[in-house]
Amino acid sequence: MANLSRPSLPSCLCSFLLLLLHVSSSYTGQFRVIGPGHPILALVGDEAELPCRISPGMNATGMEVGWYRSPFSRVVHLYRNGKDQVGEQAPEYRGRTELLKDGIGEGKVTLKIRNVRFPDEGGFTCFFRDHSYQEEAAIQLQVEDPFYWVSPGVLVLLAVLPVLLLQITVGLVFLCLQHRLRGKLRAEIENLHRTFETFGVLGPQVKEPKKKGQFIEELILHLEALSG
Ligand SMILES: *[C@@H]1O[C@H](CO)[C@@H](O)[C@H](O)[C@H]1NC(C)=O
Repeated sequence: MANLSRPSLPSCLCSFLLLLLHVSSSYTGQFRVIGPGHPILALVGDEAELPCRISPGMNATGMEVGWYRSPFSRVVHLYRNGKDQVGEQAPEYRGRTELLKDGIGEGKVTLKIRNVRFPDEGGFTCFFRDHSYQEEAAIQLQVEDPFYWVSPGVLVLLAVLPVLLLQITVGLVFLCLQHRLRGKLRAEIENLHRTFETFGVLGPQVKEPKKKGQFIEELILHLEALSG
């Protein structure tokens, strides 16, 4: 009976610690950190937005929120005590980041990185820290060059192509004009030939259809013979 009414000191201490642990865990609240779940795509020189939130959603205004990345856990952006801690940023991200805190009351934030560069490509870790409880999520950033296809070969082709197209066009126009001119000339010569034929100037040898060149040559010879 005495044992029941007066519990031993170790068991009492143990209960107290358990109670304390329970209170503290329910006080800090446990949450998960959720990233976008897919790689974020950004173009060189453009902006990238890396969203991150806690679940269940709760007011994270008083929490520590940050982004860091390998190697050596370099700080990309840090928010603590209600302020952006610019002084703790790695130099390569100074002045290039902005934490969008519109949804921080529901535990949602987005890190904006301006003027994205190729070294920004890779993994980022976003974390939320409430007292001693911390959770994090991984985010992948993919950086693409909008002019990746511009190689020296392509540049040469781009420079040569208009000239080449112009030459082809001029050539085609020339051929077309030549063809039409030749057709006209042929018609006129044939006309002339018929006229001469009716007057019996030409012999019967040009009555048959012949090759154009030969025909013209013969006609010229005849004309020369006539004039001479
Ligand atoms: C979140 O907490 C801050 C202070 O800790 C308070 O000013 C703000 O109104 C709260 N936001 C919401 C949505 O509860």
